[in-house]
Amino acid sequence: MAHSVLQHPLEQQDHDFLSWAESWSGLGVWCTLWDAQGQIISPTPSGAPFWKALWNHSQEFRNEISKGIRQNPERSFSIPLTDLEGLRLHGIRLQTTAGALVPNPILIVGLIVSHAPWDENLARLCSRWQLDEQVLTTWARQHPPLISDQASCVLDLVAQGARNLHLSCHQTHELTQMTDQLGRAYEELNLLYRLGSSMRVTQQPREHFQQLFDELARTTDIVAMTAILYDTEVLNPDNRLILGGEPILDAPQALRMAEALRPLVRKSSNALIINQIRDYPQLDWAQGWLEQLLAVPILRNQNCLGMLVAINQCDRQPFDSTDARLLHSVVDRSAIYLENVLLYGDINKLFISVLHALVASIDAKDPYTCGHSNRVAVVCRRLVERSRADSAMADRIYLSGLLHDIGKIGISEMILCKPGKLTNEEMTEMHRHSEVGAKILSGIKQLDDVLPGVLHHHEWLNGSGYPSGLTQAEIPWMAKVVGLADAYDAMTTGRNYRPALPIQSALAEVRRYAGVQFCPELAEVLIQLVKDGLPEELKYVKKTAAFESVYRRWQAPGQEP
Ligand SMILES: [Fe+2]
Repeated sequence: MAHSVLQHPLEQQDHDFLSWAESWSGLGVWCTLWDAQGQIISPTPSGAPFWKALWNHSQEFRNEISKGIRQNPERSFSIPLTDLEGLRLHGIRLQTTAGALVPNPILIVGLIVSHAPWDENLARLCSRWQLDEQVLTTWARQHPPLISDQASCVLDLVAQGARNLHLSCHQTHELTQMTDQLGRAYEELNLLYRLGSSMRVTQQPREHFQQLFDELARTTDIVAMTAILYDTEVLNPDNRLILGGEPILDAPQALRMAEALRPLVRKSSNALIINQIRDYPQLDWAQGWLEQLLAVPILRNQNCLGMLVAINQCDRQPFDSTDARLLHSVVDRSAIYLENVLLYGDINKLFISVLHALVASIDAKDPYTCGHSNRVAVVCRRLVERSRADSAMADRIYLSGLLHDIGKIGISEMILCKPGKLTNEEMTEMHRHSEVGAKILSGIKQLDDVLPGVLHHHEWLNGSGYPSGLTQAEIPWMAKVVGLADAYDAMTTGRNYRPALPIQSALAEVRRYAGVQFCPELAEVLIQLVKDGLPEELKYVKKTAAFESVYRRWQAPGQEP
């Protein structure tokens, strides 16, 4: 059996224990730790040269200790080296806590015990066991031999202290580990709690994952992260790839990496841990910046919605199962959020389709305004995007523009489609459409915030508009946007009683009525938008399917749309 000093790695608690054992060396007590198979783990620091010198000369001596350990598996024991007074060896079995690197080691304690003249015994002892007489003599001179009774007392004290202290060291270590685990669990829970606030379905996936990445960068050693989302129906392109952490890779690299990983993580609910990139030829091209990765599929009800990839760790630490568990926890919640976002997107699409169908019914009544509402909605969106960077507001004003004339459903077709100018009575009837529209929509809770645009889009800044004669700041901003977009589209498209105005003439009218009818700031934004190609965009405003079917029904046979 091979023996060597310090052949086992030691845990901190074993080092602490050996430091305690070292304190006995002043009384001539040498301690070593052995494992249950009879192999040396480590001597105390000052005993190391002594032990080494002894067993360097005597394989038999070491075998005798190993045999003593193996023959006494349950209890402490003495090792009868010689029938003479002299070297006494005693084995003390120690307990460890679960999971210790070296379970239940044995402390071998050595003492020199003598009544008789020591030199004579020492010479016989060394001769019998082929020990290094010079080393043992030097040690004995530094630590005078104990008499037998003293030695028994010392051994009892060492045994009692060793058992208590060793267990205590391990329990302290276990407690420290539990504290660490609790700390990590708390961080994990805290992270999940904070993420809860970014899981509203109205929040864009980009914002959700960006917040997740910020939290992960703050609480873990992950260097960079990316989320790749597969849905192309509901998610806009801006939400399909999100990068976070340090900028060690760009979007094309992230997409190429995701493409390489997709077959590996597909249909697997497990995390993919790659700590040796060179083992994956499909990632060869990324070796300049990619050191380790951890990829977790975003799964919901058997559907893979995408994947989240953690890239590299500080100090090149490998990813392990603890990292995978944490990422699974956050990805599980992101999957629920994402599924809700997709469902919400579907419902929203359905809702918008219904609204488009409703709008198409007005166009069916008044073919000359065909597509008017859709174009007004687009102009509204562009006006908001150019003047206020708030995508939520742009969406709401888009709807307001789409529905601004919905009240025309309640106006007679005789008036709507009249070829000539309207009489005063007819004009009064026509003016009712904004109030009728607001009344129709007031029953739909989800459209509460678009009503101001519908009700007040014919108000003028100078107070001469309808239905309320509001002025300046009394007019809701949304209504100012819709009113300007409405007027611009009305001027630039033909009616049954007049042709379309050229674009420049329409803009001249907008300038002339800025501050009278229109908000001057919005008028300037519109003029700029027209310069930047708005009329061209309006030529390609998509008609909804519902709209097109109504439009086709209205057309005379053979007439091109
Ligand atoms: Fe109108």
